[in-house]
Amino acid sequence: MAVQGAKQEKPFTINVSERLKRLPPYLFGQLNAMKSRLRAQGCDVIDLGMGNPSDPAPESVVQKLAEAARDPRNSRYSQSSGVFNLRRELARKYERRYGVTLDPETEAVATIGSKEGFSHMCLALLGPGDTAIVPDPAFPIHVYAVALAEGNVISVPLGNDEEFLKRIQLVAENLYPRPRVLVLNYPHNPTAMVAPDVAFYEEVVRMAKRFGFLVLHDFAYGETCFDGYVAPSFLQARGAKDVAVEFTTMSKAYNMAGWRVGYCAGNAEMCRALMKVKGYYDYGIFQSVQIASIIAMREGDEFSREQAAIYQQRRDTMIRGLHRLGWTGTESPKASMFVWAKVPDDLMKRMGTLDLSLYLMEKGHVSVSPGRAFGPGGEGYLRLALVENEKRINQAMRQIKSALTALDGDANQADQTSEE
Ligand SMILES: Cc1ncc(COP(=O)(O)O)c(C=O)c1O
Repeated sequence: MAVQGAKQEKPFTINVSERLKRLPPYLFGQLNAMKSRLRAQGCDVIDLGMGNPSDPAPESVVQKLAEAARDPRNSRYSQSSGVFNLRRELARKYERRYGVTLDPETEAVATIGSKEGFSHMCLALLGPGDTAIVPDPAFPIHVYAVALAEGNVISVPLGNDEEFLKRIQLVAENLYPRPRVLVLNYPHNPTAMVAPDVAFYEEVVRMAKRFGFLVLHDFAYGETCFDGYVAPSFLQARGAKDVAVEFTTMSKAYNMAGWRVGYCAGNAEMCRALMKVKGYYDYGIFQSVQIASIIAMREGDEFSREQAAIYQQRRDTMIRGLHRLGWTGTESPKASMFVWAKVPDDLMKRMGTLDLSLYLMEKGHVSVSPGRAFGPGGEGYLRLALVENEKRINQAMRQIKSALTALDGDANQADQTSEE
């Protein structure tokens, strides 16, 4: 109750930093709010919106975690760059899978998920006035992390061919001061685009050396490949370690997204810069989680292959469902956890992908990601994550179909009314 005669106090203003104000608008906010509202009303929203794995982590890894958690030594602060045995296991995996040799001491860092590693690497490499080239569309943190480091983003339309390399060269030649960083991500989120071969990466390395920029390759979906395809690591390219680091993660291949374990590997100077930033900010991942992650990497090759096969089957189910909808312009992805669904032109003429996603959630109770949320180049597409089982995917497709049929009905009714 206000005290009579007391002066009315002005509301206290909280001023956030310019750094925060530079962040682009978060287009998922409206969708997330609607999803929460529908779920609070008891609605079963089928969630194809986020690449958040829903299958269990390997049983032996969960057991190791439980066992390690009982040892009080593991409750102490760990090492911010990760325990040596974990980094050594990463090096062994790179050798086994890609024939890439890494020094676990200097060329490998454990991160709190690859997103943390990527973000802090941007902080380590970029500052005001520095520029990063980021393909459009992009996984949002590839843009936000540059903005948070107070760097500038130059977007180039995404590709995986000579034309794409020419676009990068054009920017590198014409920008002054020269760009400091190039962000790449194959298999790509959201489009599922893959890199053609190691030679493509070798072209990037040549360009990086010529123009003096560094390469950050996000390889989160490196192990989620289909139909026998094997995604190349950027570090397989000759000279890659002179200019690049690569980010990998336990989140996708081992269903350990919430465990928050990722890695940065490659150029020792860049790794050292990341370790330095992390050394100030964090005390490392819970040590029991690091110990369990060693087991996952050591024994989990078969597990990650089986998990990829599950995604492959879901992909086929989803592509069939999209074809039944008449959305035949969608390519079947070779890798990643997403289908990048091309929205038919007649539907795009009626609404953008943000409105379409809101409509499908409200009327169809299916959550999808609007392509526009990944940058202007994503407009015209929806990103559908393969994180629900095949039965639920089929159900989602039926619900999308009903919602779109209702939309056609509404449009016909509106046409008739306008003719009356
Ligand atoms: C391309 C890409 N990089 C990084 C991440 C985040 O991975 P992590 O869980 O290791 O932070 C994701 C998650 O969706 C992703 O799609």
